Amino acid sequence: MHPSLHLLHHLLLLLSLTLTLPFSPTSSLPLHLSKTTHLRRAKSAPAPPQQYIEVTRPLPFDSLTPSCILPLLSHTFSAPTANATYSPPANCSWSNAVLHFSAASNGSHRGRIAAVWLSGAELARSSTPDPTPEGTFWNFRKDVTRYASLLRSSNLTLSIALYSLVGHVTNDTYDVNVTFLYYDVNKTDHAAPLTLIRPEKSSESLELNQNPADLIVPISAPGDGGHWFRIDNGSDSISRNIQIPSNTYRAVIEIYVSPHDRDEFWYSNPPDYYLEINNIPIKRGHGSYREVAVKLNDNVVGSVIPFPVIYGGGIDPLFWQPLVSIGAFDFPSYEIELTPYLGIMLEKGNNLHSLGLEVTDALPYWLIDANLHLWIDSNGDSVTAGPIEYRDPRKRLERESKFHDLDGKFKVEGETKREASGWVNSSAGNLTTHVYGKVEFESKLVLKHGGRKVRVRQSVRAVEEVRVRSDAGHSVAEMARERRYPLQVRARVMPGSENETYWIAAEVEHAMKEEKKGSGGMRSESENRQKSRGWMFVRECEILSGAAATSQSYYAKDGKGCYARHVLADGGAVKNDTHSFVCAHTAAS
Ligand SMILES: *[C@@H]1O[C@H](CO)[C@@H](O)[C@H](O)[C@H]1NC(C)=O
Ligand SMILES: *[C@@H]1O[C@H](CO)[C@@H](O)[C@H](O)[C@H]1NC(C)=O
Ligand SMILES: *[C@@H]1O[C@H](CO)[C@@H](O)[C@H](O)[C@H]1NC(C)=O
Ligand SMILES: *[C@@H]1O[C@H](CO)[C@@H](O)[C@H](O)[C@H]1NC(C)=O
Ligand SMILES: *[C@@H]1O[C@H](CO)[C@@H](O)[C@H](O)[C@H]1NC(C)=O
Ligand SMILES: *[C@@H]1O[C@H](CO)[C@@H](O)[C@H](O)[C@H]1NC(C)=O
Ligand SMILES: *[C@@H]1O[C@H](CO)[C@@H](O)[C@H](O)[C@H]1NC(C)=O
Ligand SMILES: *[C@@H]1O[C@H](CO)[C@@H](O)[C@H](O)[C@H]1NC(C)=O
Ligand SMILES: *[C@@H]1O[C@H](CO)[C@@H](O)[C@H](O)[C@H]1NC(C)=O
Ligand SMILES: *[C@@H]1O[C@H](CO)[C@@H](O)[C@H](O)[C@H]1NC(C)=O
Ligand SMILES: *[C@@H]1O[C@H](CO)[C@@H](O)[C@H](O)[C@H]1NC(C)=O
Ligand SMILES: *[C@@H]1O[C@H](CO)[C@@H](O)[C@H](O)[C@H]1NC(C)=O
Repeated sequence: MHPSLHLLHHLLLLLSLTLTLPFSPTSSLPLHLSKTTHLRRAKSAPAPPQQYIEVTRPLPFDSLTPSCILPLLSHTFSAPTANATYSPPANCSWSNAVLHFSAASNGSHRGRIAAVWLSGAELARSSTPDPTPEGTFWNFRKDVTRYASLLRSSNLTLSIALYSLVGHVTNDTYDVNVTFLYYDVNKTDHAAPLTLIRPEKSSESLELNQNPADLIVPISAPGDGGHWFRIDNGSDSISRNIQIPSNTYRAVIEIYVSPHDRDEFWYSNPPDYYLEINNIPIKRGHGSYREVAVKLNDNVVGSVIPFPVIYGGGIDPLFWQPLVSIGAFDFPSYEIELTPYLGIMLEKGNNLHSLGLEVTDALPYWLIDANLHLWIDSNGDSVTAGPIEYRDPRKRLERESKFHDLDGKFKVEGETKREASGWVNSSAGNLTTHVYGKVEFESKLVLKHGGRKVRVRQSVRAVEEVRVRSDAGHSVAEMARERRYPLQVRARVMPGSENETYWIAAEVEHAMKEEKKGSGGMRSESENRQKSRGWMFVRECEILSGAAATSQSYYAKDGKGCYARHVLADGGAVKNDTHSFVCAHTAAS
């Protein structure tokens, strides 16, 4: 059976542009590949299904025996959603929980997005890898301890959506299993970043972020079509009214987001007038800047720039076999500390407040929702809070475009800064929280050779610093978080000698770097980097032949140790996979 890997409109802008442009019929290339060339290796024996892998590090409690295992759902998807009733295992002592998601498919349909919600709060988001004729399977484990308040509640609805990103209806089946594993780990083994240095006169029981939130309020869609909201344009904003307990002393919003269709490759979208002037019918424009803003009662209180997760068929499908792109199975989520705004959120009376989300310059479509994590003062039923200073985020965005016909250079550079402080009087005393956030963005898109050569270079740096001080001005807790994600894509399309055939050569290099610091010298850092390179020979929507290699290095370090892993995949198979628990470069801890 000939592999039929559909490029569809899922390839980079480059492809969208060039594949729709008329090529000169006389152009030809020195190389010629016969159309019987098969992408896959020897086919005499039936090949085993392809296992796909997202390279990560082991979870801190992977080596422990779980206290309990709860196989919650085993489902063959025919409809896009499935439900199960969740209750925690009886008589099980646990401190940490893991979500294990495993899936298998024999289908030929590419491009799906999946998410798991518990009582409407998103626990994980995932994309599906590319199909192979032999079938595929994959799994991932995610630490979901931060959702413990939900995981300790009974009779909740666990729902899963598995949505097709491409509008085809097929007979494809996906088998999905969801299992929860519960571990009893000493608390200190899993201290969250914001650790408390005890204030002089506080009660003992109030801890900031040592523990998962006491309550999670979903900012998500009701109904049976998956709990995410769909955003189609920049003026489309979604919001939910919220009412939080009157003894809430801390609030953090966590956002899950994924771009699709015309914005799947938003980081390579040129401005609209480039498309208009060149008469390009594919409307993947609006430039290459997107920002997700969080609004409280219509005021922006923070924003994030999403990490560009590349889905299974993205840019060059051969890159992601079998190593999927960073975050493809376990999407990153984004946090914004909202404690300084508790003065508004706790306002007495019958006031409902709204939390909203929007995506600057969005094109159809984005799937987005959020969880509001709340910490409750169990020693007092009345917490009061008020503002000290709220400043509107200061945003600077500069765009520069130069083009002639299809060739051009497009730059976007910007910075958003936000700052807020507020006080919260609880049983821990009157504490003041100051939050400083900054997002830096830089992107450059270069199109050459009649738009057939594309280079994208983007970098994002996001910082959030939280400082908590007591009445007397002593530092009670501190936390700083930084993420950096550089991305570089190069691609080139050349017409083949046959009708409707093209050569495509591409390279992607991207990374996710994270650093966290907390009170008492707490510090952790990680870096996950991928580099891919390959070529394809394509007719219409089929890859006739091709080759690709991806190398990945993962490095993580915290107060307890180090982990490093290097993986090399070439021609669809893992060639080298080494890991070590010893730090290569022994930096000061
Ligand atoms: C809970 O587990 C403990 C220890 O395994 C056992 O002694 C006890 O009987 C169990 N209780 C219930 C209600 O099952
Ligand atoms: C799901 O669980 C069942 C029963 O344990 C197992 O037979 C099946 O292979 C699993 N499927 C996946 C995709 O993990
Ligand atoms: C894939 O095909 C094999 C063999 O035909 C079958 O045993 C398996 O259940 C199928 N899996 C899925 C997810 O359809
Ligand atoms: C869960 O729901 C079932 C049936 O609706 C009910 O019998 C049971 O008491 C509920 N359990 C809890 C803990 O609420
Ligand atoms: C679904 O499966 C049937 C039987 O195998 C086949 O005839 C039909 O073409 C399939 N439909 C699609 C959309 O693949
Ligand atoms: C867990 O905590 C107990 C007491 O707090 C201690 O004795 C034990 O050594 C700890 N275990 C580990 C694995 O750290
Ligand atoms: C899942 O549950 C929701 C309500 O929580 C319901 O609206 C939806 O129809 C259910 N979906 C399925 C497939 O049962
Ligand atoms: C934005 O999208 C929403 C929802 O799809 C739609 O109702 C609205 O008209 C759109 N606005 C613009 C300006 O296109
Ligand atoms: C601050 O909170 C504490 C504990 O809830 C309460 O006893 C005290 O009266 C509050 N102080 C003020 C000025 O409201
Ligand atoms: C808490 O401290 C802030 C600033 O120091 C002050 O404005 C506020 O009135 C205090 N609140 C209470 C309840 O004491
Ligand atoms: C190229 O395509 C045209 C139109 O689709 C067709 O008539 C012609 O036979 C094709 N030539 C080759 C060499 O396949
Ligand atoms: C595989 O990794 C080992 C250890 O890092 C290294 O010595 C070896 O050269 C690597 N092989 C390839 C093919 O990269």
